[in-house]
Amino acid sequence: MSRDAGQLVCVGRVSEWKSPESRKVVVGDRAVVVVRIEDDFYALGDVCSHANFSLSEGDIYVDDLEIECWKHGSTFSLLTGKPQCLPATKSVAVYDVTVDDGRVWIEVRS
Ligand code: FES
Repeated sequence: MSRDAGQLVCVGRVSEWKSPESRKVVVGDRAVVVVRIEDDFYALGDVCSHANFSLSEGDIYVDDLEIECWKHGSTFSLLTGKPQCLPATKSVAVYDVTVDDGRVWIEVRS
């Protein structure tokens, strides 16, 4: 089974990122939060599924691989996009991230 390739978008050089760090990037009409923890990168939809607040402004929980919505405290898995506590109940999108030749790329599908 094949899948359609998405649009690859470079979000910077690895050397430009701290760890841990989160950044909001905008690709077309989508906002994505990209998170670096050590040598790993993760990308989720940036808008909290509970209300219109940016996850990129929340705390990163390195040991749990989660990011917290600063508004009401739901945390989201960086692996699955699923909320780990209330009040959010819906997942946010997860994007594939690759590192190639020192650059970080996210894959955005239409
Ligand atoms: S807006 Fe994110 S938990 Fe409420």
